Amino acid sequence: RILILDYGSQVTQLIARRVREAGVYSEIHPGDVDDAFIQEQKEQGLKGIILSGSHASAYHENSLKVPAGVFSAGVPVLGICYGMQSMALQLGGKVEFSDHREFGYAEVRAHGHTRLLDGIQDFATAEGHGMLKVWMSHGDKVTELPPGFNLMASTTSCPIAGMADEERGFYGVQFHPEVTHTVQGEALLKRFVRDICACSGDWNMPDYIEEAVARIREQVGDEHVLLGLSGGVDSSVAAALIHRAIGDQLTCVFVDHGLLRLNEADQVMKTFADNLGVRVIHVDATEQFMGKLAGVSDPEAKRKIIGREFVEVFQEEAGKMTNARWLAQGTIYPDVIESAASKTGKAVAIKSHHNVGGLPDTLNLKLLEPLRELFKDEVRKLGVALGLPHDMVYRHPFPGPGLGVRILGEVKKEYADLLRRADAIFIEELRNTIDPETGKSWYDLTSQAFTVFLPVKSVGVMGDGRTYDYVVALRAVQTSDFMTADWAELPYALLKRVSGRVINEVRGINRVTYDVSSKPPATIEWE
Ligand code: XMP
Repeated sequence: RILILDYGSQVTQLIARRVREAGVYSEIHPGDVDDAFIQEQKEQGLKGIILSGSHASAYHENSLKVPAGVFSAGVPVLGICYGMQSMALQLGGKVEFSDHREFGYAEVRAHGHTRLLDGIQDFATAEGHGMLKVWMSHGDKVTELPPGFNLMASTTSCPIAGMADEERGFYGVQFHPEVTHTVQGEALLKRFVRDICACSGDWNMPDYIEEAVARIREQVGDEHVLLGLSGGVDSSVAAALIHRAIGDQLTCVFVDHGLLRLNEADQVMKTFADNLGVRVIHVDATEQFMGKLAGVSDPEAKRKIIGREFVEVFQEEAGKMTNARWLAQGTIYPDVIESAASKTGKAVAIKSHHNVGGLPDTLNLKLLEPLRELFKDEVRKLGVALGLPHDMVYRHPFPGPGLGVRILGEVKKEYADLLRRADAIFIEELRNTIDPETGKSWYDLTSQAFTVFLPVKSVGVMGDGRTYDYVVALRAVQTSDFMTADWAELPYALLKRVSGRVINEVRGINRVTYDVSSKPPATIEWE
């Protein structure tokens, strides 16, 4: 196993992710653990230590020091940024404030033939020096190597960008190998954990499940856990994992606000209650939500009502479960980092996020968040490994207020029923239409696709008669971060099939349009 000591960098979890990708088990602990802890880790098979970066200055007297036990544990150590500076400082080198801050892309030249960098390069200079394209983010820098260390890497503005004491297996890099902008970062970390630390690299998802299950059992003991199941990826995977750990000590509450997609409630109940045997309380609160939404057309007012009612319904159910001591949530790592509190509480705030802390703490329950350290794609892989259906785990995102923000203006059950049927046709056709160039379905080629209900009527003709019915808009976008998005260039033949089917199969809709607006200036949702 690898021990990652966290000094508060935004990207410490990325180190853990890269180590997992190399097939090696790792644990993140606060940077100020004591020497006894390191000894304990050694007894449990510790093979190497990675010191994270930080926003602090290594020479500042209040900054966390690396425990001396790290350097006497007899295992290789890799210091990243602050980790390298602390290593240099504590082993007798020098670190200085630099008035030239380096931030972003840099090209690093490798020196000597260290085990860490040998054969790892992006290109070579005319003189034959190996060069790496890396991502830098630092103010301070090492200005004097500690005794026993050799220069391993440099840039023009940072003469000591990497150092190595090969005898002791101590390495330091000023750049960040854990971020994808450092092209060879994955190879470098793999080299460290697999070759230098000699970890076997056979750790995988089933192992992860076993460890996560053990952790949940230890945390929860014989107490009971409550989870708000939405049918979305994160809460679904959290439910499946916790159920694997504690079985019937978990109760899920699934609130149906009447604004879900076609057959969604049935699918959730089938997957969890029938197939996995999870105890799920299905609350059909359609009437309650529709009642509160009647006469309200402002989008933000609708969102507020749906959010408030959701909490109310959930709390009412929670109140009935007097033995619950835990509230489980499907918080994943990007939510954590966005809402600022890293696992060790040292990352700096960026912005608040609606997914974290959505439920009030008046329930007096302890929080159980077993996916806190995982990234979205890892959560999906975990879901499949736990036996959840592929289609559920690889679904497009669906907003919390559901169809409530896809029915423009006032929400009515009649509108929701029409929209559900039209949307199901659109999604079915997207799934069934394969792009010959990529071999992928148009569902997989788009990031989010859905139908919007427009409460306006237009004239049409059907058979011999005149119709006067509603309009829907199809929306399909491609995006990597949902902050900006392009409308998807769906094949005309696909749009034609969808429009033909919707108009023929959904009585009440006689016109289908396609939304060709990008974000910005439009948003993905219409409200
Ligand atoms: P917009 O419409 O802002 O959407 O371009 C960006 C992403 O956020 C989702 N979205 C929401 N998700 N509650 C949610 O949980 C909401 O109120 C909400 N509004 C938008 C949207 O589906 C898209 O993925």
